[in-house]
Amino acid sequence: MNNYEGTIEFWDERFGKNISEQKYYNPNSPLTMTEIEEGLKWLTKGSASIIDFGCGSGTLLFRSLALGAKNVVGVDISPKAYELAIQTSTANKMNDNTNFVVGSIECLNKIETNSMDAGISSNTLDNIFPIDAKLVIKEFNRIIKKNGKLLIKLNDTMAEAVFEDDYYQLVSENFYKEESGLYFWNLSDSKFKELISPYFKIVQYFNVPFPKTDYKNRLYYLVNDK
Ligand SMILES: C[S@@+](CC[C@H](N)C(=O)[O-])C[C@H]1O[C@@H](n2cnc3c(N)ncnc32)[C@H](O)[C@@H]1O
Repeated sequence: MNNYEGTIEFWDERFGKNISEQKYYNPNSPLTMTEIEEGLKWLTKGSASIIDFGCGSGTLLFRSLALGAKNVVGVDISPKAYELAIQTSTANKMNDNTNFVVGSIECLNKIETNSMDAGISSNTLDNIFPIDAKLVIKEFNRIIKKNGKLLIKLNDTMAEAVFEDDYYQLVSENFYKEESGLYFWNLSDSKFKELISPYFKIVQYFNVPFPKTDYKNRLYYLVNDK
């Protein structure tokens, strides 16, 4: 597997800060980002089982359960994110409905073909090696049932000039390692379409304003029609 040590360190530090408190969540409380809330409403309609790659502490999966999903699987490379997800699941007596695992693509390889109704990957696919992102999409295509749904959120595309800063170290074409330890793939809309179209059909696209910045996130509603 490619080296994600910096990624793990970064996210463990972030998620580790929240671990001391027990996590309760209110199933009646919608997500603050309305576009994501709407995306999950679309995704969960008719979808009992949902898998999230790069699920973090499981926020989108817990919300999916509140919106009607029955079983969720969350994969994340950060052990601290996993701990937090388990804590929330246990505190809310949802362990029968959740399955969180620590790891990366090798976890997807173990999941049965056509076994899930829907999938999510939010702000993860353009923070991993392009070759790995392609594998995740291919695995989603295998795991998600025919006509099953997929919700993908990507970071914004950045102007080339941004990467002249020493903060970014070029790894390969349009793919950088940040000083933070994270990777960033400057993935254009057209490149994403090229990547996804052999596996999923894009049914809707939305811009999601990124709080307190001029940047946006990109939200794709996809269907497995292949
Ligand atoms: C920006 S966070 C997004 C968390 C969550 N999806 C959300 O939208 O709230 C990115 C997540 O992807 C995970 N991640 C990064 N690289 C990964 C990899 N190679 N395999 C699995 N998870 C990864 C990180 O640990 C982190 O939890």
